[in-house]
Amino acid sequence: MPICEPHMRDRADANEPAPPCTVVIFGAGGDLTKRLLLPALSNLERAGLLPDDFQLIGVARSARSDADFRAEIVSSVGQFATEQISFEQVRWLADRASYLQGDFDNAATYRDLAKRLQTTSMPNGRIRNCLFYLATPPAAFVPVVQGLAGAGLAREQDGSWRRVVVEKPFGTDLPSAQTLNSTLLAVLDEHQIYRIDHFLGKETVQNIMSLRFANGIFEPLWNRNHIDHIQITVAETVSVERRGKFYDATGALRDMVPNHLFQLLTLVAMEPPGCFDPDALRAEKAKVLSAVHRFDHHPDDVWRHAVRAQYAAGNVGDTPVEAYRNAPDVAPTSTTETYVALKLMIDNWRWAGVPFYLRTGKALSRRRTEIAIQFKQPPLALFRDTPVDHLSPNELIFHLQPEESVTLRFNAKVPGPHMKTSGVAMRFNYEDWFKVAPSTGYETLIYDCMTGDAGLFQSAATIEDGWRVVQPILDAWSADPTRDLGTYAAGSEGPTTADALLGRQGRSWRAIARPVDPGSRAP
Ligand code: BG6
Repeated sequence: MPICEPHMRDRADANEPAPPCTVVIFGAGGDLTKRLLLPALSNLERAGLLPDDFQLIGVARSARSDADFRAEIVSSVGQFATEQISFEQVRWLADRASYLQGDFDNAATYRDLAKRLQTTSMPNGRIRNCLFYLATPPAAFVPVVQGLAGAGLAREQDGSWRRVVVEKPFGTDLPSAQTLNSTLLAVLDEHQIYRIDHFLGKETVQNIMSLRFANGIFEPLWNRNHIDHIQITVAETVSVERRGKFYDATGALRDMVPNHLFQLLTLVAMEPPGCFDPDALRAEKAKVLSAVHRFDHHPDDVWRHAVRAQYAAGNVGDTPVEAYRNAPDVAPTSTTETYVALKLMIDNWRWAGVPFYLRTGKALSRRRTEIAIQFKQPPLALFRDTPVDHLSPNELIFHLQPEESVTLRFNAKVPGPHMKTSGVAMRFNYEDWFKVAPSTGYETLIYDCMTGDAGLFQSAATIEDGWRVVQPILDAWSADPTRDLGTYAAGSEGPTTADALLGRQGRSWRAIARPVDPGSRAP
């Protein structure tokens, strides 16, 4: 049972610099480090959130000198910074960085790291707080964590913490996620493990909690009595590009659903936690996932409630895109899905009978991540010219990316002598209101790791609950790889088979490619 104490996020000192620490990035030469981690660290520095005696150690296999690594920091931040950064600011970070060449499978790497940490640490040689960031392919997670433990670096001692950030993918199915959890937990305590999901670093995703729990007007409506259904869409225009090797072994379901889409689902569906203590929050999320109606009650469940498809050649905007099967490193007969849509039911008192429709895919018509809450229609047709079933549904829409806004749709009277109604929209736009500077999305997450706030990270239980929901789908699809595998043209709205998921109950998906601004009339 979590104990609710005043939480970091609520405290007035939440904008203080993080405590003194060393961040060690494994995979220091990789894309994630260059594009996101280094720019995020530099944004944190700019915001005054890194401690003065911050240290950064990059570890990777290839040969580099400290000077090379520092030069890479300067150029990565220059290239991928989300805001204007001065040369002095980048230098600040580069001056605190050093590089260690080492093989992740070799115990000597971790002995060298321990020595390095001792020399860059406190005057008495005691190793101070360390954040080990695994920006590596998943195959390196276990060797790195075991290497750290072998060199005594996983043990928290002398009042210093040791935390490990593990990137996605966390396992490839339920058994592998369980094995990974137990391997990590053999050498680390749960409170030392930060399983990251970068969706939770997005401001608009965190805003779901504010909107629900910092306002009195929404929560009374947030249940089966008032909500007809919920649509969660993560539509991407990017195709598989050069990620064929990873993607063909993974597919849209594994890549996006148990992690990113389920994070959105749990934020929308969870009960209000008693407080924002990380354990309280994670306990509520876990309850949602464990209440999702399983897909293995009936042999047809998967085929009725899950849709998969692969993109064929087409145009995304003006750009021609080759069929998925022709992409580099993808098997020409591949049956891997690039699109998935699910209908989920949550078996609890709040949500019984309310369908949650989830969809995600590559090479779709438009990039759009949104959650649309569609409310029930009013019970009676009071307006002669507008029968109830012609009224636009009331909707609350969280636009998460690329626009960051919240829209409320309702009906209003059309000016004129007749009593006619039309759908209109009120929109709150993040950027207009808060004048926010763009971020990488990793700033909050890295800062939270340094301050020990695990609320935005996944626990062992939520990871396994997520895989438990999708496992029957993975099993059914792999047992029958071609059954009901649809196709859709690149640049389209997705496969027509996905329409039937909603169509059976007289509902339809919101268009992905509609105009950015919903304007004052319902599209
Ligand atoms: C990653 C997936 O986790 O998330 C990618 O592996 C996907 O396939 C990406 O494109 C989407 O993230 P974002 O932040 O661009 O929406």
